[in-house]
Amino acid sequence: MEFTKELTQKCKGARSVVVLTGAGISAESGVPTFRGEEGLWRKYRAEELATPYAFERDPKLVWEWYDWRRQLISKCLPNPGHYAIANLEALYKDFLLITQNVDGLHRKAGSKKLREIHGNIWRVRCTKEGRVEENLEVPLKTIPPACKCGAILRPHIVWFGESLDMEDIQTSYEAIGKCDLFFTIGTSVVVQPAASFAMMAKSMGAYVVEINKDPTPVSEQVDVSLLGKAGEILPELEKELSST
Ligand code: APR
Repeated sequence: MEFTKELTQKCKGARSVVVLTGAGISAESGVPTFRGEEGLWRKYRAEELATPYAFERDPKLVWEWYDWRRQLISKCLPNPGHYAIANLEALYKDFLLITQNVDGLHRKAGSKKLREIHGNIWRVRCTKEGRVEENLEVPLKTIPPACKCGAILRPHIVWFGESLDMEDIQTSYEAIGKCDLFFTIGTSVVVQPAASFAMMAKSMGAYVVEINKDPTPVSEQVDVSLLGKAGEILPELEKELSST
């Protein structure tokens, strides 16, 4: 893919960079996206299962979905797009990766300056004590899994209708406020508050680059919209930026 002179100059000259990713960055690793044709599980959409009400009503069904996703994700590896973002981190003094993904693949690819704003599918939380711990059991032996205290565990994931962790939000807004380069990668830009991050960065003077397989609601407003697969575009861009 050809990158414009302006894009490479902006990327090379940037001091402070924020990268926002969504399910599209993990698609080439085999993790189904949410709103693509493969987004359904049985006959349910994420919006019907990833909610406190669904969990209240039928914790077993919700955990069956997560157990299915955990079993699938446990076989997935980071793809060249994840690795390119991990390498980009080293190019900039000021860098933050904000991911909506809960699959843990950015961390596996070596990203360190990372906020998993929707949580992590490998962490569970006691519904009584609130304690969070890692749970890598694949498949889950009991569904729903129970805490030692006897209460059921829930996925440590931010569900529809729930608010994000205050620290994640604060760190994200701070980074967005001071960045001069913002990437939005593999997200359909429909779920708030992440859906507003790109235009927030633009309104504060950042150069905004979108990398996505399909057009999104911000494709017309960003500075550059690169249409294609993140796992193909990012390694080429990273190579271009890492060369002298
Ligand atoms: N490369 C780049 N983009 C891709 C690729 C790819 N290989 N494959 C798919 N995409 C794009 C799709 O075109 C789509 O725009 O990735 C986007 C995925 O959109 P969604 O499935 O809506 O995922 P996301 O934007 O991350 O959803 C946001 O919604 O369900 C909740 O909490 C969940 O974090 C999720 C949030």
